[in-house]
Amino acid sequence: MEKLVIEGGKPLKGEVEISGAKNSCLPIMAASLLTDEPCVIRNVPPLRDIHTMIKLLKALGIKAEWSNYTVFVEPRVKQRKYIAPYQLVKTMRASVCVLGPLLSKLHRAKVSLPGGCVIGHRPIDLHLKGLSALGGEISIEHGYVVAKAKQLKGARIYLGGPFGSSVLGTANVMMAAVLAKGKTLIENAASEPEIIDLANFLLKMGAKIKGIATHILEIEGVKELKGADYSVIPDRIEAGTYMIAGAITGGDIRLKSAQIEHLGAVIDKLQEAGVEITLQREELRVSRRGKLRPVEVTTLPYPGFPTDMQAQMMSLMTVTEGISVITEKIYPDRFMHVAELNRMGAEIMLEGASAIVKGVKKLSGAPVMASDLRASAALVLAGLVAKGKTEISRIYHLDRGYEAMEKKLAKLGARIWRVKE
Ligand code: EPZ
Repeated sequence: MEKLVIEGGKPLKGEVEISGAKNSCLPIMAASLLTDEPCVIRNVPPLRDIHTMIKLLKALGIKAEWSNYTVFVEPRVKQRKYIAPYQLVKTMRASVCVLGPLLSKLHRAKVSLPGGCVIGHRPIDLHLKGLSALGGEISIEHGYVVAKAKQLKGARIYLGGPFGSSVLGTANVMMAAVLAKGKTLIENAASEPEIIDLANFLLKMGAKIKGIATHILEIEGVKELKGADYSVIPDRIEAGTYMIAGAITGGDIRLKSAQIEHLGAVIDKLQEAGVEITLQREELRVSRRGKLRPVEVTTLPYPGFPTDMQAQMMSLMTVTEGISVITEKIYPDRFMHVAELNRMGAEIMLEGASAIVKGVKKLSGAPVMASDLRASAALVLAGLVAKGKTEISRIYHLDRGYEAMEKKLAKLGARIWRVKE
């Protein structure tokens, strides 16, 4: 096992390149199941989750490989399989987004239920509701979702749950509807940039989708889809994480390839907190000279403040004089990082789905444990500003979603090393 060792206190300076969006790549790779022709997906970072999705495509009889930031997918029509095994799905929940494409293309799918998740209860009832509305016969058997349908048929589907729209639920239903007979209307569709990216990939494959980027998607089913060559958008969550790295260390960094229009809520809150953010020649410059100010943040579906930035924002709040508050409206239990940040001297109190953060003058380096992807990023950010040495174990979580984070941070001047435990 590997861990990260960080010696905090160094303001970060320089330029960092933002990788392609993991949460775009995964459903787009799943969408390649919808065609019999090869697909080329570009700007794909070499992350653990990407390799897991490649393994899953292979298990489904598809030839898939990653090389030089590009995934090549080649279906072998006679060898296709429809079972997504537990062994793979349990390591990555996003595997569930092969369900829609398998059902509409192969007319049957058997996909393991993902099981528990450290960030809280994550049901897939909306996915199943949508696929049933399209005519899928769905049952749960021995821990698997078993779905079949001779021919999916377009339908009107309201896809909202107690916490609003569902990103992968929308992805699954949209991917099923593109090959369904007739028109589908998805109401309360997610409008996250990754869903827009997926829709754009589907358009390139020949799908007919209207209302992209809104909450009502209108899809006219087509008989078949062709292969596509597509480049995914930059990762807004990775960009936001580096923005906080610049801000928390009182540094001055420039983000290459970040897409400013996807970062509105994060930029707004960071500016309110006293961080300077400007756009200079396509690069986003993030710097901080003055004191940080406390802010209140509520996570919401896009274009609200992303839940995937909640933990990182909390790290910034721990060293902001005064009282800051974060309310989590997507995953009310997504607070695994709180106890670890408190071990570093933070003063965070949980009250229901809110965290009340009393800023401290200094965090102090400590051995801490990563519990999930974004919680790991939050610990790295805290380590960058803490006094002394922070050691973060279980960093395989970080490797699921951040490309070579320690290398990118070291290039910005951070004292950070990956070592064997
Ligand atoms: C996606 O997960 C992301 N994953 C998550 O990022 C992200 O946190 C989440 O969207 C919210 O933005 C990928 O894109 C691979 P949801 P997803 O369905 O689609 C409830 C990361 O760190 N819900 O939009 O699974 C659900 O419990 C990961 O990169 C239902 O009630 O999330 C939650 O409260 C972690 N029923 C809310 O909706 C359902 O059927 C939003 O979840 C589905 C979801």
